Amino acid sequence: MKKPVLEFQNISMQYGADPSQSRQVLSGVSFQLEAGRHVSLVGRSGSGKSTLLHLAAGILIPTTGSVHLAGQEISSLKEQQRTDLRSRYLGLVFQFFHLLPHLSVGENVALPGWVAGAPKTETSSRVKELLSRVALADRADDPVGKLSGGEMQRVAICRALLLRPKLVLADEPTGSLDDATGGQIMDLLLEMTEAEGGSLLYVTHSRQLAQAADHVWELHDGQLRTSEPTAGE
Ligand SMILES: Nc1ncnc2c1ncn2[C@@H]1O[C@H](COP(=O)(O)OP(=O)(O)OP(=O)(O)O)[C@@H](O)[C@H]1O
Ligand SMILES: [Mg+2]
Repeated sequence: MKKPVLEFQNISMQYGADPSQSRQVLSGVSFQLEAGRHVSLVGRSGSGKSTLLHLAAGILIPTTGSVHLAGQEISSLKEQQRTDLRSRYLGLVFQFFHLLPHLSVGENVALPGWVAGAPKTETSSRVKELLSRVALADRADDPVGKLSGGEMQRVAICRALLLRPKLVLADEPTGSLDDATGGQIMDLLLEMTEAEGGSLLYVTHSRQLAQAADHVWELHDGQLRTSEPTAGE
């Protein structure tokens, strides 16, 4: 078996310290996500999907249990080490893109490279390569705020992939797009993570888009149900 890029061991997550007000969102969640896999995560609103992604990214620390990202136990790391691990191993894609509107398309994609101190020439050739793969090479100098939603999400995908992350986490990446654009974005995200050899864990409310993954996992009553491989496997 390939080494997992992400592993949850008996994770419970409770928000709020006061027991009378606190809410148990996840209880006893365990899984391994192997390198190169595509997994979709479904479940009702409030079932804890975003919470699970935030735990995977080390943005939240679990109440009990352990999260290993690329073999490292996240909660044992200091904040700065967690940030470094996140920038080295993870690409993040969000529903509302989280781009910087005053920067250009190319600058938005290049940003993780600048933050990581990667050589400028390497970063700029990677930016060009990625933007041409999403058919936005000719928009590199435009302010990102001028783009449509689908175009912005293509830019966000390029930014997430810039440093060739082992794992991409995407929280409703098609949630603010129409069905046709959402379908294209999902295809692009699957295709590009596959081409780069990375794993992908994405949240979606669409049963159809969920089926495009190798596995569909469902959160229900704080528990994770992992499925048999989908037909695409
Ligand atoms: N910071 C917080 N403090 C307290 N409760 C929180 C916090 N963040 C989330 N919750 C609660 O935890 C539960 C799970 O939230 P989460 O955002 O993970 O759900 P979700 O499955 O992503 O939902 P959606 O599909 O609507 O995005 C919800 O009941 C939510 O109200
Ligand atoms: Mg959510």
